[in-house]
Amino acid sequence: MTDVPRRGPRIAHVGIAVRALDEILPFYRDILGLPDVPLDDADGARIAGLAAGESLVELLEAESPDSPIGKFVAKRGPGIHHICFAVDDLDATLARCRAAGVRLIDETPRLGAEGKRIAFLHPGATAGVLVELTDP
Ligand code: CO
Repeated sequence: MTDVPRRGPRIAHVGIAVRALDEILPFYRDILGLPDVPLDDADGARIAGLAAGESLVELLEAESPDSPIGKFVAKRGPGIHHICFAVDDLDATLARCRAAGVRLIDETPRLGAEGKRIAFLHPGATAGVLVELTDP
């Protein structure tokens, strides 16, 4: 494999919607061996954080059926919910999105589960993937 220089935005985490953390945590933590990373709950979801190199996997379990993850799982079942990119300049990136007509879910950044600023983009502008942006 050729050495591709790794630079630019990195994947901060992949959010996976699950029915029950207890059911799936043993696979990611014990079988794959991803170490636990304590995270705060956010957006009506209990979050189990797991390290995967410089990125995280966030297992997201709904605290109630009417939370965003609850609705997602009811409609589509468990699966990848969103991808979060850490960008060098969150405000400038959001400004570029706005200028390009990319619909923002969060018009201004707010605090996410890692205690950093985050903002979600609308999947209609990102090939159907719910994209979250965060500070480095
Ligand atoms: Co996230």
